[in-house]
Amino acid sequence: MLLRTLALIATFGWTASAHAAERDCAQSPGKVIQVCVWIDNGQALYEVTRKGAVVLAPSELGLTFKGENSARFSAIGNVRRAASDSTWEQPWGEQRVIRDNHSEITVTLSGDTALNKAVDVTFRLFDDGFGFRYTYGGVPAGQEVAVTAERTQFKTIGSYQAWWYQGLGQERDEYLYTQTDARRITLAETPLTLKGENGLYLAFHEAALIDFPSMLLQGNGAGTLTAWLMPWPDGILAKRTGAFSTPWRTVLIGETPGALADSRIELNLNAPSRVPDIASWFKPGKYVGVWWEMHLDKTTWGSGYRHGATTANVEKYVDFAAKYGFNGVLVEGWNQGWDGDWIANGDKFSFTRPYPDFDIAAITAYARSKGVKLIGHNETGGGVLNYEAQLDDAMKFYKSYGVAAVKTGYVKHSGDILDKDGKGEWFAGQFMVRHNLLVAETAAKYDIAIDAHEPVKDTGLRRTWPNMVSREGARGQEYNAWGIPTNPPEHLTILPFTRMLGGPMDFTPGIFDLAHGRDDLTRRVQSTLATQLAEYVVLYSPIQMAADLPENYEKNLDAFQFIRDVPTDWETTRTLQSEIGDYVVVARQPRGGKDWFLGAITDENARTLSQPLSFLMPGKHYEAQIYRDGPGADYRTNPLSIAIEKKIVTAKDTLPLDLAPGGGTAIRFRPLD
Ligand code: NOJ
Ligand code: CA
Repeated sequence: MLLRTLALIATFGWTASAHAAERDCAQSPGKVIQVCVWIDNGQALYEVTRKGAVVLAPSELGLTFKGENSARFSAIGNVRRAASDSTWEQPWGEQRVIRDNHSEITVTLSGDTALNKAVDVTFRLFDDGFGFRYTYGGVPAGQEVAVTAERTQFKTIGSYQAWWYQGLGQERDEYLYTQTDARRITLAETPLTLKGENGLYLAFHEAALIDFPSMLLQGNGAGTLTAWLMPWPDGILAKRTGAFSTPWRTVLIGETPGALADSRIELNLNAPSRVPDIASWFKPGKYVGVWWEMHLDKTTWGSGYRHGATTANVEKYVDFAAKYGFNGVLVEGWNQGWDGDWIANGDKFSFTRPYPDFDIAAITAYARSKGVKLIGHNETGGGVLNYEAQLDDAMKFYKSYGVAAVKTGYVKHSGDILDKDGKGEWFAGQFMVRHNLLVAETAAKYDIAIDAHEPVKDTGLRRTWPNMVSREGARGQEYNAWGIPTNPPEHLTILPFTRMLGGPMDFTPGIFDLAHGRDDLTRRVQSTLATQLAEYVVLYSPIQMAADLPENYEKNLDAFQFIRDVPTDWETTRTLQSEIGDYVVVARQPRGGKDWFLGAITDENARTLSQPLSFLMPGKHYEAQIYRDGPGADYRTNPLSIAIEKKIVTAKDTLPLDLAPGGGTAIRFRPLD
């Protein structure tokens, strides 16, 4: 129940300065999660329990501003409560209809500094987690404020394992995760996922990251995580003018990893769509592209005799796309600026001047005649100002050729993105958070969708800006071309429960020539062929690439059939069984269809999972088209062994999923009656 009580802090299972505090509490709709807020000794604190057990011990709230010492809070003034249970529909997604069932409590904290005189903290409680944000509604219009610290803490108790990578010195979100005791976290990117000895899984992240720096979490060696914001070059964390709200700080809480993956809190904490007509100009789909061949160094982005983006080569991909039912062809290296060390060419790229051997008018006319659209590419090399100066022209240019989506990129040498003062900016500080939204808003004006690589992390903004269709933001398939080492098999079993909690990823699945001429395992794609198919189900994105070269697909059309069949827009999604870093099984039903698709992936260990098919419609017979690891399959020695078979099954059946080391299974279920 929603309650305001006088309670002894010590009764909640921990000891603090043992005196009474007035606590304002609220529970989630199903009474699973409870949050209490109170003031103690000048600090604003909150505590979270789940089913009566403390999950987060009293943790601090608040921001500190320049020119003010940390505020001391004396009281909670106004308390407002609300509850809401509604549904809304995504234009496309991992799930069509989303339920938003939450209760809400807003408390006004009274502090002793000018900016902290009246701070609203709003908690939204769901049965599978919660979010909260600060609103500084009293800042006078026009007044500039500078945030110098975020005091927000998450005090975990007991022992947790964490999947994370070091945040300091990050150039972008492209690292392998390590699993350690959560107390060893120094500074970690979010979504940050923990598994407790208490059986609980927690994931910390943020929602609706708008005009604020990206949040990392700093550990103290004893289980407390504190918000750490990517600073401006002058050391200020966030700069705002007038009244403002922060992004939501979010915590997902579940008893399985799948409960985190299937939570929709991230989307629910973002505002409704501001691109209402998007379905009339953008369709989810699959694409191929002049891409992997550059990563394999068969062709080049830059001009010359090995240039990849030639009219003839692009038309070859258009033919392939049309023949096999893909609606997009990505082309990189088409524009002036790639020659020499392109990563250093941030100020040289033109986004409207093609290389002479790329005839965009002829290509787009040819593609249109075949029902295929060009996917544009704007690599900035981190030259953000150069891109912003051309942004409108770039989008106008692409729109004039009927381009529906643009992949952007921010690869830079170590060092920073330069702002107008020549100062280095963090890749996801407030400067870049603003830039990312500017690109999406500008693109929307021209009916163009954005697929950002080296992006600011996803915080569910696709609900508000659905033209932010997908993004990278993790170590993707590209590392399997040239990474040293390439991604180990367990990477695919960690991503669904870390990076993917933020939203869709343009991983670029589907490499068939797994060795691509390399002997050394750590220079090849470390998976079996069946795993490459399973990626299309396990890693959600409304645009999915078939990343390999056309000739590699044409050599194996039987396996390729799964990529042709798998959709990228779903009615519903269920994470069926999983252990982070070990294995994952996901089932999804296509939007507007009666089929089901299943993807299963294991780490470097072979395993047999037993999978009940109870998600199928009871009483119906289905033909299961199974693509599984074949005899002797092993990502190290025999990655190409695949078995494709058909079986008749019903919802009452349990299917054994035999996964080879580095292996996987992909299944399409088709109803027969
Ligand atoms: C990095 C991107 O992730 C990749 O997909 C792209 O090909 C290169 N940058 C070049 O822009
Ligand atoms: Ca990348």
